[in-house]
Amino acid sequence: MRTHYCGQVTENLLDEHVSVVGWVHRRRDHGGVIFIDLRDREGLLQVVFDPDEPDMFAEAERLRSEFVIRVKGRVRRRPAGTENDKLPTGQIEVYALELEVLNRAETPPIQLDEDETGEELRLRYRYIDLRKPAMQAKLRLRAEVSRNLRRFLDGEGFLDMETPVLTKATPEGARDYLVPSRVHNGQFYALPQSPQLFKQLLMMSGFDRYYQIARCFRDEDLRADRQPEFTQLDIETSFMGEEEIMQLNERMIRECFAQVLDVHLPQPFPRMTWAEAMQRFGSDRPDLRISLELVEVADLVADAEFKVFSGPARDDDGRVAVLRAPGGGQLSRKEIDDYTAYVAQFGAKGLAYIKVNELAAGREGLQSPILKFLSDEAIQGICERSAAADGDILFFGADKAKVVNEALGALRVRLGQDLGLVESAWKPLWVVDFPMFEWDEQENRWQALHHPFTAPKTRDPAEVKADPGAQLSRAYDLVLNGTELGGGSVRIHDTAMQSTIFQVLGIGEEEAREKFGFLLDALKYGCPPHGGLAFGLDRLVMLMSGSSSIRDVIAFPKTQSASCPLTEAPGAVDARQLRELGLRLRQTQEKESQG
Ligand code: AMO
Ligand code: AMP
Repeated sequence: MRTHYCGQVTENLLDEHVSVVGWVHRRRDHGGVIFIDLRDREGLLQVVFDPDEPDMFAEAERLRSEFVIRVKGRVRRRPAGTENDKLPTGQIEVYALELEVLNRAETPPIQLDEDETGEELRLRYRYIDLRKPAMQAKLRLRAEVSRNLRRFLDGEGFLDMETPVLTKATPEGARDYLVPSRVHNGQFYALPQSPQLFKQLLMMSGFDRYYQIARCFRDEDLRADRQPEFTQLDIETSFMGEEEIMQLNERMIRECFAQVLDVHLPQPFPRMTWAEAMQRFGSDRPDLRISLELVEVADLVADAEFKVFSGPARDDDGRVAVLRAPGGGQLSRKEIDDYTAYVAQFGAKGLAYIKVNELAAGREGLQSPILKFLSDEAIQGICERSAAADGDILFFGADKAKVVNEALGALRVRLGQDLGLVESAWKPLWVVDFPMFEWDEQENRWQALHHPFTAPKTRDPAEVKADPGAQLSRAYDLVLNGTELGGGSVRIHDTAMQSTIFQVLGIGEEEAREKFGFLLDALKYGCPPHGGLAFGLDRLVMLMSGSSSIRDVIAFPKTQSASCPLTEAPGAVDARQLRELGLRLRQTQEKESQG
């Protein structure tokens, strides 16, 4: 139907005849001449209809936004002064000789040149929303990133292999999506939270290098960078240690940025231990574009009469830290209250602060509700250690270390944004030396920080059993600008160690057999040392496209409440389907779904 895409008609085609198809982006009537901006996936093209052709002109007058048309015409230079330097097609226009309306459109429910439309509406009419040039660009970038990553991995000898979607529960720690079985009434498949166990089995099968762009399903609370179904670039290798795995993946990401964005990431990516990241940034995914850091002051306030500080300062699990915000002395009472409410979300019971008006004036030069509780030495020590300067504000966190880290870690990022302290740069970081386990206060037991197949640094199961809290794992995360892009580990390839890890996690022998028996068996029949990682492809593309949510880089995403306004999924099913599956809804729900 076409000779060229709209966006490809440039001066090179001057005086030639072209045939173009697309959507009416805009129609303007100017002194008896009609201009159409015709849009297709490659861009916009100006088409001119002249009243000298009355039939065609009348037809052109009836064109409306989003009509699908075909135009044949001659390419000519735009009159001097009417060029548009912003468009590749801005020097020319097509003088229409033939117009064919391929389809009409009702007035679209969302405007293509408007950003303000609510997300619910955008998702309900996603096929129109996706026509926006900005959305087209994002999804095309996504395809380019996938293509680039595949090309790299293909070149490195990785095999693209698929794994089941109807499977058993996988161990990534979120809630499962379940699918009832019709053939086996009362039994359920779980959708995979990741292909973790299958990719390990593929290593045991001898494939050596595997990858998959895999859909994963996790029923968890959604955020800007979390979706119930999302996509991983999932990778596993045999006979490689963490160093080799990290280097290979780093090379892949660096090449991807260079080829797709012409961005040259640092070489090598910096590395930081988990402990240092928590200490300095209160986060295991620090945004290194922001230079603010948490400073430890527990020793300075351990003897203070202020129990809010001295309590945590003397508690082994406690932490007292200061976060200095340069120029924050300007913050109003209301702004400080807002920050206090913000950190409360992370469990902080308050947000003590000191405004530094004039450092040289000592106590008199400071302004704070807690000054009266602190000694001169403590105040001086705090100011020195945090490198306080006139005009700054010092924020304090005092609580269990976990709470302080989460609260001040989040405040650090928020302040960085609010005070304009986010450097415009790409800051990748490998975080390494994670603890194997973290203590779950609520359930009163150890939880795996990664997943239970991650190998500890030690090869001695007895050591793990003796002091689980002290064990570091052979895991690594790749962080970019404060987002966890990917993570993985060297795996356990030895039955004794795997059983010990299950014991520490309180997974009994029977439960382990029932859940992961196939993996435990496979470990016995010649399992190579192996390891890998998975990147969140949506997150990678979100960052590369400068989007603020992964929903923007997924063609058909779910809302924050895990529903799809377009298809209206999830939906009710009829009684017969339920019967076949051997399911019955609880009475109250049954009434609701009938009503
Ligand atoms: P993990 O659970 O860390 O590791 O997941 C790997 C990466 O997937 C992305 N991700 C998500 N993206 C969008 N929405 C979500 N709900 C979501 N959850 C995770 C993140 C994350 O870094 N099997 C292991 C990997 C391995 O050990 O090889 C795993 O799934 O970018
Ligand atoms: P209070 O004595 O509770 O009025 O607290 C005095 C100051 O300390 C207020 O500015 C509180 O916001 C702050 N504060 C209270 N608890 C904490 C805490 N756990 N960490 C940091 N600041 C706190």
